[in-house]
Parts: sequence; C-alpha cells; structure tokens
Amino acid sequence: MSASHGQKGSPVNASSKEPLLIVEGLRVAYGGIQAVRGITFHIDAGETVALIGANGAGKTSTLRALSRMLDAAGGSVRYLGKDISRLPPHRLVREGIALVPEGRGVFPRLTIAENLAMGAFTRDDKPKIARDIEHVFGLFPRLKEREKQLAGTLSGGEQQMLAIGRALMSRPKLLLLDEPSMGLAPIMVQKIFEVIRTVAAEGMTILLIEQNAKLALETSRRGYVLESGEITLTDEAEKLLHNPKVREAYLGE
Ligand SMILES: Nc1ncnc2c1ncn2[C@@H]1O[C@H](COP(=O)(O)OP(=O)(O)O)[C@@H](O)[C@H]1O
Ligand SMILES: [Mg+2]
Repeated sequence: MSASHGQKGSPVNASSKEPLLIVEGLRVAYGGIQAVRGITFHIDAGETVALIGANGAGKTSTLRALSRMLDAAGGSVRYLGKDISRLPPHRLVREGIALVPEGRGVFPRLTIAENLAMGAFTRDDKPKIARDIEHVFGLFPRLKEREKQLAGTLSGGEQQMLAIGRALMSRPKLLLLDEPSMGLAPIMVQKIFEVIRTVAAEGMTILLIEQNAKLALETSRRGYVLESGEITLTDEAEKLLHNPKVREAYLGE
C-alpha cells in the first residue's frame, strides 16, 4: 500500500487476529417491513470502514441494531470476541462502543462543556476527563471558543463537532458515525472529516456511514455498499472509488 494510505490503518493482510467487530446475518425489521436483510461484515481493530448507500438503504437501521437502540430481528454481533447482541445500550458504552447518531443528538439546553462531560458518564477518573476535554478542544478549537454556550444555539456543523467530541469522551474503542456530513456546508464537512482522519490516525476503529460515498471512501480503508438492506459489494475503498458500478450509482458519473 502507498504511504498516502498510512492514515487509513494497517495494510489489509497485516493481522491474523479476530476482527474487533463481526456482524453476521444481521436483520432489522419494522413490523413486517425488512429494512436490513441479513448483512455480514467486519471491522478490524484500527481501521476505518465505510458503509455507503442511498437514502433508505438501511444504514441507520444497521447502526440502531449495533448500538442496541433496537432489537435485531436476527443475526449476531461479536465485539472483542463476545456476543453483544443482547446487551443494553449503556453497557455498550462501557464496553467501548460510542455512537454519533444521525442528527447529532446533542443536549440543546446544556452547554458545550456540559455535553462533553455527559459523554464521560461511564467514567470517574476526573483528571483524565479534564485532559480529554482539552483533547477534544484541541481537535475542535471552535468548541473551546464557545465552551459556555448552550448546544442548542450552535450551528449544525458545530453540533456535529460536539456530538463527535462527546462520543470521544467515553474513550471508545469503536466509533460509529451516522452521516456526519449530512446537511452541512462544504467547509464544515471538510473540517469534520479532517478530524475524523486525525482520530483514525490516532488509532481509533471507525464505522463511517455516509450517503456521501466519495468522501466516505476517501476516508476509509475498506467499504461496503448497502442496497435495499443487502450488502451488494465490498472491497478496499480505493478500489470501490474506481469501481464503475459505484461510480455510476454513487459518485454521480
Ligand atoms: N422507525 C421506522 N419505522 C418504519 N420504517 C422505518 C423506520 N426507520 C426506517 N424505516 C425504513 O427502513 C428502511 C431503511 O431506513 P434507514 O435505515 O433509515 O435507511 P438509511 O439510513 O440508509 O437512509 C427505509 O425503507 C425506511 O423507510
Ligand atoms: Mg440514515
């Protein structure tokens, strides 16, 4: 692999260890409607993996099942060698899985600093929490400038920064990002993806869910294409970027 890919994780065949996350045959249904139809994928420790797909493909449903916001209709989820498909959501945070949900989900009536502190609710190591808040402020200087401001008064981009910062405050091993670029001005999208790349380069394992396929694939090592609840294609991100089907369906060519 070329040097320019160093930030995207270790080379594909570097590790024989079990992946950090293994999803097998995952199904999600709303009443009689199947949104996710038995998908299988994995994420190795330290890599960024993109899950791309059009609106309605089942991306958020996949994340809801992974983060236990809903019960899967079938399949299994293994994380660090353990079945986590029945754990309650707060346990997942303790196990090191942090979700940045679609629409960010910051607490609008709390300040930036308070939102970040909430992200550390599973921890009681105060000095380290303070240090991690400073780390988040280092990643997002705009948040530092607005530390005392209520989250509800922030722009969409700033709320996205805060949502990512809050997730990092739980010291996750796996970061789940649902459409971080959605609804944001291009300049904000650039800033946020710069930080995602920085966090990835620091060693974080990331599942990056995006409708913006180009951006997601440029930021990831591998990718999966989700269509109508099924994974129809998987490859190294670089190869997906050059795949004619992907180019036609997702890159507007
Ligand atoms: N709460 C819900 N109730 C019923 N259907 C839903 C619900 N959430 C999503 N769906 C349906 O499930 C499918 C997948 O949606 P979703 O996972 O949100 O897709 P994506 O995130 O890829 O846009 C869509 O057909 C959507 O209409
Ligand atoms: Mg979605």
